[in-house]
Amino acid sequence: MTGKAQCAVILRVLPGSTRESGINGFSVLVAVCLRTAGAFASRRTGSGPRQRILMTTFQRHSGVMHCEGVSLERIAKVHGTPCYVYSQSAIEDALGAYQAALGDAPHLICYAVKANSNLAILNVLAKRGAGFDVVSLGELERVVLAGGDPTRVVFSGVGKTVLEIERALALGIRCFNVESEAELSAIADTAQRLKKIAPISIRVNPDVDAGTHPYISTGLRENKFGVDIATARRLYRFAAEHAALDPVGIDCHIGSQILDVAPFEQSIDCLLGLLGELTASGIALRHLDLGGGLGVSYQTDAPTINEYIGVIRDKLAGCSLELILEPGRSIVALAGVLLTKTLFLKQTEQHHFAIVDAAMNDLLRPALYGAWQDIQAVTPREGVAHDWDIVGPVCETADFLGKQRSLVLQEGDLLAVMGAGAYGFAMASSYNSRPRVAEVLVKGNDMHLIGERETLSDLWARERIPNEAAS
Ligand code: LLP
Repeated sequence: MTGKAQCAVILRVLPGSTRESGINGFSVLVAVCLRTAGAFASRRTGSGPRQRILMTTFQRHSGVMHCEGVSLERIAKVHGTPCYVYSQSAIEDALGAYQAALGDAPHLICYAVKANSNLAILNVLAKRGAGFDVVSLGELERVVLAGGDPTRVVFSGVGKTVLEIERALALGIRCFNVESEAELSAIADTAQRLKKIAPISIRVNPDVDAGTHPYISTGLRENKFGVDIATARRLYRFAAEHAALDPVGIDCHIGSQILDVAPFEQSIDCLLGLLGELTASGIALRHLDLGGGLGVSYQTDAPTINEYIGVIRDKLAGCSLELILEPGRSIVALAGVLLTKTLFLKQTEQHHFAIVDAAMNDLLRPALYGAWQDIQAVTPREGVAHDWDIVGPVCETADFLGKQRSLVLQEGDLLAVMGAGAYGFAMASSYNSRPRVAEVLVKGNDMHLIGERETLSDLWARERIPNEAAS
């Protein structure tokens, strides 16, 4: 490969709904699927060929998996393993897919910082015009540090503290997404005390089943999130009459890793109903926030960003409010891998275990949700494949990255856990006193260390042994 040819993005038009693309004989994760404008229009009319432009971020050159133009072997050599590797182009393209699909419709894409809060990634997104969805003071300060514009920040979450509300008001954020009557009162009191006016949006719980894992389903009546329609009506009336509150929007988020657009349609219907009532009663809102939640193709086909936006735009035809979305996973998940090295192979009567140097503390999703993420050899070898359980060194049976993966493996081999850009490092811990791993961002042929590997002394830097006299 030469120069720019190595950089990032290869666009291919493939027929049908292929999720993974075979390149050089290997299955390579497809990062972002975009539909051409023409094909998109034909989907709406139900005719014409299904075509997808696929951007392959992780592809093989001479058999070796690369991230954009840099081989994962080289990254492992320079930065060690385990380590997270992200493609900057894939992140930019995913944000760009949202922006392009929304075109000139008034909109703001508020990237959900919780998915991956590395400063460099926030900076890449801020430079491309993203806003941000934050859920804590830590996330808010990260956005500011990374060069994000506070006036493009929405603040979600059921438990905002007075300190968080004060700071958000001082920074002049776009909106508080309010999740309860008690929170609305706390925001009103704080704003009044600081002589500010707080822009607010009520998070409506539409009681819609998002059909996702129960731990990440948020739009059902029994969930702790948002308020029901009747409460929302009341809170809007309260906000409209309160001098320190400005009701600017309406908000909703029904869950994450949603693979069907129907639940989004149901929640839009619910929001539009309430919006109509509010407008009729003289409460004129300026934006409609549909939250995040679009799933990605870890294993089964997910709607593309274009399909998802197409459905939303169809549903909202005739609604002139600014559209806010809070995507996290669909911006970063497929842009990242967790790179890990095989330490030992251990075969029992029942199982082939590949013990690798990454563990559940580095990538929690398989242990916590039973999530499936593809695992590929960085440099596949010839030989007899076995079904391996890929497990880490942590002392828990839940410590697995994948089970029954057909691979030809030897000790020392590098593996890539695909789709690890979202909720990977962000959910990592130092459980078992394992330092958190390095993070590397690749753009074209360049790689940058964007997160240093924690040292052993980092692990105990905040701890103190009381001296005996004082205890
Ligand atoms: N907005 C709000 C209010 C949210 O609670 C979330 C995610 C998002 C936006 C972003 O949703 P996304 O576009 O990423 O689906 N740790 C889990 C995912 C938890 C998602 C929680 N809320 C996982 O690894 O699957």
